[in-house]
Amino acid sequence: MNTGERKLIVVVAATSQGLIASDGQIPWHLRDDLRHFSRLTRGNTVVMGRKTFESLPSGPLPARRNLIVSRRGFQAEGTEVFASPADAVAAARGNVFIIGGKALYDWALPLADELWLTLVKGYATPPSASDIIVEGLQETNVFNANSWTLLSKETFAADERNDHAFDILHFKRQ
Ligand SMILES: NC(=O)c1ccc[n+]([C@@H]2O[C@H](COP(=O)([O-])OP(=O)(O)OC[C@H]3O[C@@H](n4cnc5c(N)ncnc54)[C@H](OP(=O)(O)O)[C@@H]3O)[C@@H](O)[C@H]2O)c1
Repeated sequence: MNTGERKLIVVVAATSQGLIASDGQIPWHLRDDLRHFSRLTRGNTVVMGRKTFESLPSGPLPARRNLIVSRRGFQAEGTEVFASPADAVAAARGNVFIIGGKALYDWALPLADELWLTLVKGYATPPSASDIIVEGLQETNVFNANSWTLLSKETFAADERNDHAFDILHFKRQ
């Protein structure tokens, strides 16, 4: 979907099983990943599902154009709402960052030019019915599907800033 200057970029944190959320929230706290997310997306357009928007602690992400996808005519100050992911992406200028949740990732992963995957290590909570799993983000699919070429990898240890060890992996479409 790279039309000239515009790239479609997926940004996500997931376990090797593709888990992105449980009980309606992200089940880890990784300060260095939040910093990475902020640096990457600030000044740009982000597209998210309505539930992801409602999970944000302080409303729209600052210094970013916040586009929300909803079928129900949802409204929130400081955001623009679209009836489909394709409509939202079409309304953006420059690079577009897809920041979740599951339906948005399922839609964007086959189309995206780049993937920033924060691979969370050692998340060992027993499976629950509320787990949200994105199959396209399972480690075996990301590394074996011949879809992605790894551009960079940065490794972080578990410490007082980060609940878990994790890698920030940057891929481009193969
Ligand atoms: N680990 C991560 O990196 C990460 C990233 C983002 C979010 N999360 C977590 O993921 C959870 C939310 O994700 P989710 O998958 O449950 O929900 P979501 O994708 O954020 O939102 C789902 C909603 O988006 C709208 N939507 C989805 N597909 C659509 C389409 N094709 N056309 C029009 N509207 C569409 C619908 O809104 P309406 O119901 O209003 O029609 C739908 O109910 C939260 O817990 C959040 O913390 C994790």
